[in-house]
This record gives sequence, C-alpha cells and structure tokens, in this order.
Amino acid sequence: MSNIDINNKYTKYFIPPNIQEAKKRGKQAVQIIDFEPIPEEMANIGKGKYYLIRTYGCQMNSHDSETMAGILEHMGYQPTDEENVADIILFNTCAVRENAEDKVFGELGRLKHLKLEKPHIILGVAGCMPQEEKVVNKILQSYQHVDLIFGTHNIHRLPILLRDALFNKEMVVEVWSKEGDIIENMPKVRQDGLKAWVNIMYGCDKFCTYCIVPYTRGKERSRRPEDIIAEVRELARQGYKEVTLLGQNVNAYGNDLDIDYGFADLLDDLRKIDIPRIRFTTSHPKDFDDRLIEVLANRGNLMEHIHLPFQSGNTDILKKMARKYTREEYLELVKKIKKAIPDVVLTTDIIVGFPGETEEQFQDTLSLVKEVGFDSAYTFIYSPREGTPAASMKDDIPEDVKKERLQRLMDLQNQISRKKNEQLRNQVVEVLVEGISKTNSEVLSGRTRGNKLVNFKGDPSLIGQFVQVKIIEPQTWTLKGELVSTQEELLDVAN
Ligand code: SAH
Ligand code: SF4
Ligand code: F3S
Repeated sequence: MSNIDINNKYTKYFIPPNIQEAKKRGKQAVQIIDFEPIPEEMANIGKGKYYLIRTYGCQMNSHDSETMAGILEHMGYQPTDEENVADIILFNTCAVRENAEDKVFGELGRLKHLKLEKPHIILGVAGCMPQEEKVVNKILQSYQHVDLIFGTHNIHRLPILLRDALFNKEMVVEVWSKEGDIIENMPKVRQDGLKAWVNIMYGCDKFCTYCIVPYTRGKERSRRPEDIIAEVRELARQGYKEVTLLGQNVNAYGNDLDIDYGFADLLDDLRKIDIPRIRFTTSHPKDFDDRLIEVLANRGNLMEHIHLPFQSGNTDILKKMARKYTREEYLELVKKIKKAIPDVVLTTDIIVGFPGETEEQFQDTLSLVKEVGFDSAYTFIYSPREGTPAASMKDDIPEDVKKERLQRLMDLQNQISRKKNEQLRNQVVEVLVEGISKTNSEVLSGRTRGNKLVNFKGDPSLIGQFVQVKIIEPQTWTLKGELVSTQEELLDVAN
C-alpha cells in the first residue's frame, strides 16, 4: 500500500489499488474496528440533499450499498431514484465478469452530460471494480468527470472521502489493497423490512483460478459469533422475518477465529433465535462437512435450500479451476445432503468455456446437471479477469462455441427446473408474503422455504405474513398458486 498517512483526516490523497498487494496472505491478525462517529463538519452536510446508489454485484455488494445508504443518511442525505434530483450518485460495482464492468463504464459515459450541466453533483465509483488497477487507470484517463473512487475495504471512510470530494477540485482516489479488517457497527438502511442480509464473514482465500473476488475482497475473516448473534437478535426484535447470512464461502466461517467454532456451531446458535427463516449463501463444496448437514437436517428456522456452486462437472477442469474437489466428491456430497434432507432445494453456479474445455468435458457438466437435478442454476460464460491465473491460460474456445454451450446448458436446466416445479403441483406450501407481484397488482408474491417464487391472489394486508398456498400451475421459474389459509386462520384452528 502507499505510504500516505491514511489516518490524517485532512490530507488530500491518491491511493490507487495494487493487485500484487491484494493477493498476499500474511499472518497479521484481523483487527476489529468500530465505526467512528461522523465528523462534526459532515454531520449535517446532506440536509435537503439527495443520494442515489446504483448496485451491480452480488448480495454482499447489495448489502454494502445498504451500508453506504446508512452512512449517507447519517449525514442528512435522503434517497431518490432520479438522477436529475440526486446531489450524489454512487456506483457500487462488480468485477466478476467483463460484461458487469462494461455496463458501469457505459453508465459513467452517459452521465458525463449531467455532470457538465450540474457540476455540483458528486459522482462516485465504489465496490469491487476500483480494487483493480486497470479500472482506476481507465477512469483517470477517460472518465475525468468522476469525483470519487473508493473500494471494498474503506466504505467506513465515506464521510471523510466525500468531504474531500466536495471541497477539492481533484478526483479523490482511495483504494486499499490489503487483506482487510472487520468494521463493526456501521449504520445501515436496509432496503426491505422483512428480509435482511447479515455478513458473517468477509473475503475469500480459495483463489479459484478464474475468480477476481479474493483480490477485490481480501482474506477470509469471520465476524465474532457474539456480534452476529446480537445483530440477528436485533433484527428479530425489529420484526424481520428472514435473514440471509452472507459470505463468499460460508462453510469456512470460523477457520480464522481463535476459538473452536465453525459454521455449524453458528447455525446451531442462530436457530435458537426467534426469527422465522434463516438462509445462507454461498456454500463451497470443499468445506461442507457432516456436522453442517446434521444441523441443517434439523430444519426449524433453517431453510432447506442450499446454493452449492459446482462450476464444472469435469475433474480435470475442476483441477485447472483449483476448486479442490472432484466430480465424484461433489456427487458424493450431494448424495449425503439428499439423504439427510430429501426435499432439499439445490441451486448452483456453472461456468462454460473455461480455457481448454473440450466438448467431452462440457458433456460432463451436462451429465452432472442431469444427475443432481438442480432446482435452478446461474450459468456463465467464462470471462478472463486480469491478474488471475486463468487469464494467462490459453483461451482457444471460439466465442460462438461458448455461446452455444451456454444455450444447451440453459435449455437442459430449464427442462429440469420445470420438472422439479411440476412435482409441487397440488401441494400446499408455506409462503412468506413479500409484496405485490411486479407484473400484476392484484397478485401477491412470496417465497417458499426452498426459496421458490410463488404468485397468488390475495389481499395486500397479508404482506409480511406466512400463509399456506396450494400450487396450481407450476412454471419454469415461478409457481402460480391459490391461497389456502392465512397465519391467523391457522392460529384460530389451533386455539
Ligand atoms: N463465492 C461464491 C460466488 C462468487 S462469484 C462461490 O464461490 O460460489 C459468483 C459466480 O460467478 C461464481 O460461482 C462463478 O460461477 C461465476 N464467476 C466467477 N468468476 C467468473 C469468471 N471469471 N467468468 C465467469 N464466471 C465467473
Ligand atoms: Fe471466487 Fe472461488 Fe472464492 Fe467463490 S470460492 S469467491 S469462486 S475464489
Ligand atoms: Fe462482484 Fe465483488 Fe460480489 S466482484 S460478485 S460484487 S464480491
């Protein structure tokens, strides 16, 4: 990292990212730092002003946007959806694939005229993209209308960075390429009053050869169990119905703690809290142990949905990806999970067109998809990420072959998803009513324990309640149903 004193709150600085630093993993202990109160001169700076945050990444990234919103609202800013009204526009970006990055550059270009018309607007780029050198260089060169660049490790510095962006003429760049600390007690404005995200750990040490995340998010570091438990308790007290525990690799939770306490222990403690639904993402197959399966099999408020990315069904490709398991080991794990939780909903992530992937190797991916029978899958064409080991592997698969493989894979998965949903026909399922359907205002939508989206006719007063819905018309991605009974009716029967 640069030798500029980042603690000196009154220095102008230019701290660019450094990918070599970002990939180091030393023995340094993780520091747990409390969010500092907002400096006095910034406390009311946003009064009568508006902010807009655009979010491009994963759930972790979305949750970071909630933190940025929390910090901005602490400074008096109010939210808006209108670019024309906003005094500050932040792009919270994702670096995982090139098309995610292209979108952001497109948007930044589009906003140039707005900045010319309204020079007082602060335009900021945050999140995973700024952790890449090439991105910061490109912004410095071609997007000089950007005022502020910061990364994933210094969100808590937003008040200071914003102050400098407001009062300096030059672009403020502060990106820390370090292993990372844990910042506790940051303010948050959650987007939803029913479902909340809770970070249980940060970073990733897996270094899958295609993936940029370990470089943009730093090393694996777990929050203290007592902090997580306190946060979930507080959410339950506030009336939240569901929490989703977040980490790039939640099964590795606790490996870095100085106590003998892992993800299964955490779930076992959280299940005692009076919160109706607990989910988690993402699980890495490598660290998914028997104890965890045992705890999940107890159900209760632990939902029977596991997102278990397999990436490729071919052991040689898995080895080149450094996924640290074989096809057989993955299938064995699935078998164990299904035995313990027969109605488990399994979803996954798959990459096609990894460097050197042959048609036969791709066939192994198709056959694994068939063998497991996932409820749904996120499918991606491999995208080379500068600085990762796979980016220097020979990538000789023509683009049209990659696209055609993706299409075949999606066609197969859609058939399977449809079949899986068909099994729910005429079944009555528990649904947490989350809101009004996006496509029909007379229809409510909610999710099953397995995280499937259900649409059914009902009164909006049911939002936030658990209801029983009979599935009438299963489709590929959603289920159409009919309301059978509400929470209150069930309680009446019980009394
Ligand atoms: N930590 C999670 C997810 C990380 S990113 C996990 O390990 O499962 C989400 C998904 O994006 C990955 O599962 C992978 O399928 C995909 N992905 C990551 N890097 C990619 C790349 N370079 N090209 C294409 N897809 C990628
Ligand atoms: Fe990326 Fe692999 Fe870490 Fe997931 S486990 S974030 S795919 S390096
Ligand atoms: Fe993207 Fe960063 Fe998440 S790269 S997937 S926003 S961790």
